[in-house]
Amino acid sequence: MSRPYVVVIASEKGGVGKTTLATNLAIYLKALHDDMPVTLCSFDNHLSVDRMFQIKKTVPQNDVGALFKGEPPEQLLQTGEFGVQYITSKIDLSELRQNVTTIKVLSRTLSRSDLGGILIIDTRPDLDIFTRNALFCADRVIVPVKDAPSLENCKHLYDFFDQNDLKRSALRILPCLIDSRIHYDGPFRNPYQLLRAYAINRGYRCMEGYIAKSPKVESLNTNPEGKIYPVLTHGRGTEVHSQLSSVARQVYLSCHETECRRLDHINTAIESETEERNRTFQDRLNSLHPNCLFCETTKLVSPSGIAPSGYFCESASGTIQAFIEETCFINLFFANFYDQDRSRPDNASLTDLFRESAQQSYFALKRAPHTRNFYQQQVALYRFDDEGLEVSHKIIDLKESDGALLNHHRSQLFRLMSTTLFDQKGMLNDDSLIIRKVSSDFPDEILYEENYRQFRNIANRIKKQFVEAS
Ligand SMILES: Nc1ncnc2c1ncn2[C@@H]1O[C@H](COP(=O)(O)OP(=O)(O)OP(=O)(O)O)[C@@H](O)[C@H]1O
Ligand SMILES: [Mg+2]
Repeated sequence: MSRPYVVVIASEKGGVGKTTLATNLAIYLKALHDDMPVTLCSFDNHLSVDRMFQIKKTVPQNDVGALFKGEPPEQLLQTGEFGVQYITSKIDLSELRQNVTTIKVLSRTLSRSDLGGILIIDTRPDLDIFTRNALFCADRVIVPVKDAPSLENCKHLYDFFDQNDLKRSALRILPCLIDSRIHYDGPFRNPYQLLRAYAINRGYRCMEGYIAKSPKVESLNTNPEGKIYPVLTHGRGTEVHSQLSSVARQVYLSCHETECRRLDHINTAIESETEERNRTFQDRLNSLHPNCLFCETTKLVSPSGIAPSGYFCESASGTIQAFIEETCFINLFFANFYDQDRSRPDNASLTDLFRESAQQSYFALKRAPHTRNFYQQQVALYRFDDEGLEVSHKIIDLKESDGALLNHHRSQLFRLMSTTLFDQKGMLNDDSLIIRKVSSDFPDEILYEENYRQFRNIANRIKKQFVEAS
């Protein structure tokens, strides 16, 4: 798979020439190496890319927003003018903001892509989540600056790189919109030299050269056809033409010299992360108690997976991990803590209600607080909400046998407690069983990294409350 070398054009300052640079750079790169794929997309809310590259007006199925939904970029490509392929822009990317919660969303899509060559991403003048996603994928970030304030703004970009352990060496400042007519007395003779000195002084690396301000280039946006014309075809007489050629050559060279592209690194990291996840999932699966923890007879866990079950149970200490059949849990719960025989017809709706509400609950079984009496052990069943805050609890005496009065489910509770929470002297220890409803059909989902982490967070919160109450 050939992943592209990613060039991101970014600056928090608006109107510094980002889009002009991104679009023209694509054309110059293609002119430099005709057989190299050059792909362009923009997270900008103007449609400059489309105006410049669209060959004929079509209604595209998809746009650049699809990259944030995991759509392979190969399927979004439009064949554009000048041999450049582009992805249709989207007027308002912010609609997708809810789905893009991390800076790694785009990198996951692009690391699976086979675009090859160079991918140029033009960004909005904002370090928003879309720009940050682009920066995370970048082999090279070109930061156009046109004056001292826009250079000051670069600090945020560098901070972003530092905070996310990205290599600062990917960043390059490029003075743009430089008025070549201005001359100063003193060591820095023009705005370009001054900006370059400011940048170097701050430890920022620069591209060689700059892009001059040119009325001809500015005029390429405005014409009766409503097109945007490239410098290569319509501004050959300007100094910007040779400056853009130089920038394209520098980009091509750095692409050529890069042995391992950023997206290759990202892909390797994702693969080892996936391997690690699979390994921990398998470890969790292997340490599961094979049978239903309550009845001990139904086999729920086998090497091929987990049979449909209703609840996941783990001791707060983490030593016991098991699944419980739905009916076992409900029977035990009703017989012991509701004093109800759930098989009675009038209790059917109560069971349904319980089953429904259990989805937003965590349960815990443990020794009732402040009871350490060997002759009269007491068990508490706690109910917590989704956040791990206590909703209710009920305490009952734990009895091994009470003659005919005790039904099967009651003595089952004693057996459960004795196999899970008894110490060597036959007394309830300080541990607890935390129980959570799972998807009946996909019980193993709770063992996936995020879900399991969430379960453990809540289990720890519950454990903390038990410690505080004891
Ligand atoms: N070298 C140049 N000489 C003269 N004008 C230029 C040059 N480069 C860009 N411009 C003009 O400057 C304006 C801003 O350029 P451009 O849209 O590329 O900036 P931008 O940084 O992408 O802006 P935004 O932050 O709004 O996306 C445009 O009118 C463009 O035509
Ligand atoms: Mg722009």
